[in-house]
Amino acid sequence: MNHFYGKSFLKETDFSAAELNYLIDFAIHLKSLKKQHITHQYLAGKNIALLFEKASTRTRSAFTVAANDLGAHPEFLGKNDIQFGNKESVADTAKVLGSMFDGIEFRGFKQKTVSDLAEYGSVPVWNGLTDDWHPTQMIADFMTLKEKFGSLKGLTLTYVGDGRNNVANSLLVTGAILGVNVHIGAPSDLQPTASILEIAKKKAAQSGAKLLITDDPEAAVEGADALYTDVWVSMGEDVDYDKRIKQLLPYQINNDLLNKTGKKETIVLHCLPAFHDTKTTIGAKLLGAHKLDALEITDDVFQSEQSVVFQEAANRMHAIKSIMAVTLGNLFIPESLFE
Ligand code: CP
Ligand code: NVA
Repeated sequence: MNHFYGKSFLKETDFSAAELNYLIDFAIHLKSLKKQHITHQYLAGKNIALLFEKASTRTRSAFTVAANDLGAHPEFLGKNDIQFGNKESVADTAKVLGSMFDGIEFRGFKQKTVSDLAEYGSVPVWNGLTDDWHPTQMIADFMTLKEKFGSLKGLTLTYVGDGRNNVANSLLVTGAILGVNVHIGAPSDLQPTASILEIAKKKAAQSGAKLLITDDPEAAVEGADALYTDVWVSMGEDVDYDKRIKQLLPYQINNDLLNKTGKKETIVLHCLPAFHDTKTTIGAKLLGAHKLDALEITDDVFQSEQSVVFQEAANRMHAIKSIMAVTLGNLFIPESLFE
C-alpha cells in the first residue's frame, strides 16, 4: 500500500502539508542512504521520460542521477529531438510516452502542457518548472531549511526581486501550506497576482503562516530566517532587461540588506542559475551595460558562510528522488499517515 502511488506533482497545491512534509522527510532519508552507500532501487526496471522545452542544469541532472540511483532508466527528450508541439499534439505525445514510459518529467512554458501530459499520459507526471510553478524546487528548498533549522513551522522566509515568477509563486504557496511565514519584497507591478495571493491566503489561514507583500525591501527582510532571490528575468520572458534591472536594484541581496534582517543566523538561498558576478557571458553583458558588479545577489553574499545555495542545489537530486520514488515505487506508505 502506497498512499502516493500513481500521483502526479504538477503544482504545490496537489499535496497537503502532511504530504509535502513526507516528501521532504523522505528526501532527507534518501540523502542519508546515499551517503552511506545503501542501495535504494525502488524503481528498478522502470523507464522515465525527461521532456525539456527550456534549458536546465540542475533539474535535468537531478532527474537523471535520481532515476539511475533508483534503478530506473532516464531518457532525455529535448524539444528539438522529438515531434512534440511541432508535428504532434501534447495529447498524442502523452498517450505515446505513457504507453512506453512509467513516468514523465516535463519542463517548459505552459502549465497547461504539464497538466495535459498528466491527463492523457496515464502515468505520473512531474513538473520540472513551468512559467507558473517550480514544485520540485520547493521540496529541495524546504528540505534545506529543515536541515538548517531542524523544523519549518514558524520560520520566516523572505523573497526579494521578481515576485511574480514561478519560484516566487511556489515559495509563497508552499510556505503558506507548511506554516512558514513568507514575506515578498517586490515593486507593485511585480508582486504576486491576485489569484496566487488568494490561494496562498487560504492555505495560510489553515496553517497559521503570516504573509507580507510589500514594495519596501527593508520591511520585507525584517525578522527573516532565510533570504531568497531568483533571476530578475526568467526563461522565456520577453521584457526590457534594462528597465527590469533599474526597477529591481533596490531588491538586490547584498550585505546591507542582509544586515537588516535583525538576525545573525539568517541564511541565503537562490534556486540558481544566478547573476552574482561577471563570470557568464550574459551576466558580463548585462552588468557591464549598467556598470554594476552583480544583479540579484552580490558575489560576497553568494559566496558567504550564510549562503546555502550549493547545499540547496545538491538537495534537488534527493528531493526529486523522493518525489519519483513515492509516486512510482512499490513502497509501504499507509493512508492513515495522511488522514
Ligand atoms: N534551479 C533550477 O531549476 O535550475 P536549472 O534551471 O538548472 O534546472
Ligand atoms: N525563474 C527562473 C527559475 C530558474 C530555475 C526561470 O524560470 O528562469
